[in-house]
Amino acid sequence: MKIFLDTADLSEIRRAVDAGLIDGITTNPSLLSKAAGAEGSPAEILKEICAAVDGPISAEVVALDADTMVREGKKLAKIADNIVVKAPLTEDGLVACRRFRAEGIPVNVTLCFSPTQALLAAKADATYISPFVGRLDDISHDGMDLIRQIRVIYDNYAFDTQILAASIRHPSHVVESAMAGADVGTMPAKVLWQLIKHPLTDSGLASFLADWEKLPEDRRVI
Ligand code: G3P
Repeated sequence: MKIFLDTADLSEIRRAVDAGLIDGITTNPSLLSKAAGAEGSPAEILKEICAAVDGPISAEVVALDADTMVREGKKLAKIADNIVVKAPLTEDGLVACRRFRAEGIPVNVTLCFSPTQALLAAKADATYISPFVGRLDDISHDGMDLIRQIRVIYDNYAFDTQILAASIRHPSHVVESAMAGADVGTMPAKVLWQLIKHPLTDSGLASFLADWEKLPEDRRVI
């Protein structure tokens, strides 16, 4: 499973890139607005992210009608070659998706909450579909069921739309997404770092080093 970071925070992104752990980035209007703060420009931030990461960078349109979405998406696509235009799972979003794809622009169809929505996104030739697992869990549904349903549907018909598990909130979401066959999991930086941590790794390392210290100093050479 590919791992994307779900953030527009450049320092978080650079740390993950330096660690060689991520394959791409997803942003959304909320994340870009937070990163831009009072003075920053979302387009400039996206440009820097695209330069920092060798992988797809999702950037979302904010219009509600297909014509304006297409206009916005084309502007976003000009920022860098690795931009993926993100469009919402609405009728207009699917129309825009088809139009982007006809021009060779990759599309991430976002805000997916049902298997029927995912089926239609694949038929609109979406490059990625983003089911929001955490937000389904928030309303007492099982977000992971949706990933499993989409996997079966896409495999039944050999759709090549990639399942991008989004709204991941904790490491179990990552494990379950990978087990369910999601192609990508996008997660906040906090979750990425949680994937590395294990208390038995920490205590094991501490005891190995304590034993090593028992050797006379002049023999503690590797
Ligand atoms: O990429 C979509 C994701 O950012 C949504 O996550 O935690 O706001 O539901 P969340």
